[in-house]
Amino acid sequence: MDLLIKNGKIINHDRSFEADIFIKNGLIVKIDTNIQTHNPDTKIINADGKLVFPGGIDPHVHMQLPTPAGLSSDDFYTGSRAALFGGTTTIIDFVTPQRGQSLISALEVRKAESAKSIINTRLHVSPVEWRPSTESEINECIHTHGIKSFKCYMAYKSSIGLDDDALFNVMKVVGEADGLVTLHCEDGDEIETLRLKYARSFLSVCEAHAKSRPPGLEAKAVATAINLAQKAQCPIYIVHVSSRQSLHLIKAAQQAGQMVYAETCPQYLLLDKSKYTPDFEKAAAYVMSPPLRSPSDNEALWQGLANNLISTTGTDHCPFLLSQKMIGRDDFRKIPNGAGGVEHRLALLFTYGILNKKISLNKFVEITSTNAAKIFGLYPQKGIIAKGADADIVIWNPNKKSVISTETHHQNSDLNIYNGFPIIGEPEMVILGGNILLVDGEMLK
Ligand code: URP
Ligand code: ZN
Repeated sequence: MDLLIKNGKIINHDRSFEADIFIKNGLIVKIDTNIQTHNPDTKIINADGKLVFPGGIDPHVHMQLPTPAGLSSDDFYTGSRAALFGGTTTIIDFVTPQRGQSLISALEVRKAESAKSIINTRLHVSPVEWRPSTESEINECIHTHGIKSFKCYMAYKSSIGLDDDALFNVMKVVGEADGLVTLHCEDGDEIETLRLKYARSFLSVCEAHAKSRPPGLEAKAVATAINLAQKAQCPIYIVHVSSRQSLHLIKAAQQAGQMVYAETCPQYLLLDKSKYTPDFEKAAAYVMSPPLRSPSDNEALWQGLANNLISTTGTDHCPFLLSQKMIGRDDFRKIPNGAGGVEHRLALLFTYGILNKKISLNKFVEITSTNAAKIFGLYPQKGIIAKGADADIVIWNPNKKSVISTETHHQNSDLNIYNGFPIIGEPEMVILGGNILLVDGEMLK
């Protein structure tokens, strides 16, 4: 069915304007003032008083991620449904092979798992080792499967993390093929030493987790990554930047002309390490890597967004049940790392970013959609409301007030790190590829 969205205020990364949008066959075919239709089959949507955004793109989620505590608790269906309720129409998850498994075979498995998603779903591929076939596997991902972003972990060295030589090799191959290496920056070796130290300490377990992963070891890995990338001539994208120190290094590299993109997440903007109290059942929800930092880091990250040092926001959506977190009750090293948030990114950034005057409406669209589309090869099909673009559109009610709650959220978890957060603004309608999927908090079948 054709759609005509009338009277809304369109917000793109570069401008805001009032216009109607005509949608046909899943695409935006016309944007103009006062578009008329005489076709009774065209559905007319009145967006008077509403903001119209390009659908959110979350470039960092982990649905059904295997961990020793079991899979992260959202599968691609429940996780994508949660995303949809929050106005995110595209997610990018990860292919994480077992060591010894080829990237291609892991990609096929992950593609099958992700078929349950009800929104657009793309994948980054993670080389978890360097072996003779890795170069050709990376090239096959790029040339046969169209995947150009490769996520490498500098932590978790015993399972999926890479040492510097392997990382350099990946960067070299990806850089030569015009791809992008995305990086989890934490110095895995030094963190292992600290994990051992703090496991024997008298700190409460969640505090021990945070102490074992200090901001200096994130910054150390950032420095190494920037250095290796410069030598390998490979663009890099640093995921979940959490600290002022890391940002400082990223700024220096960007100013020197190196292609270094940065992502942060709402949890590093809005929460801090005071959550790591001795009350395990409360604090465990916040156990994630990197851990929450200080209010001064929160502030530096907001400034980094406003000043274009940080290009994107992801959520690192990786929820668990409290029963899974409980596995680490007596040993923080067994607590599964991660928290959900895919549903709340837009509302949190709208409320605490725009309404608190930390970012503009256009910057909001840039960091929730446009820049991710540009960096990960989806632009201008996605990330903008423009003629010819996919009709992935959020009609946003900027006045709707609510409170985030584990009782009403859509992620599959009894935990929510934003539980009790008041928010203003929510999607009144979400359109994906020209189909209306969500209206007034109800999913249409
Ligand atoms: O704590 C986190 N971030 N869990 C998800 C996996 C990862 O490290 O990105
Ligand atoms: Zn992650």
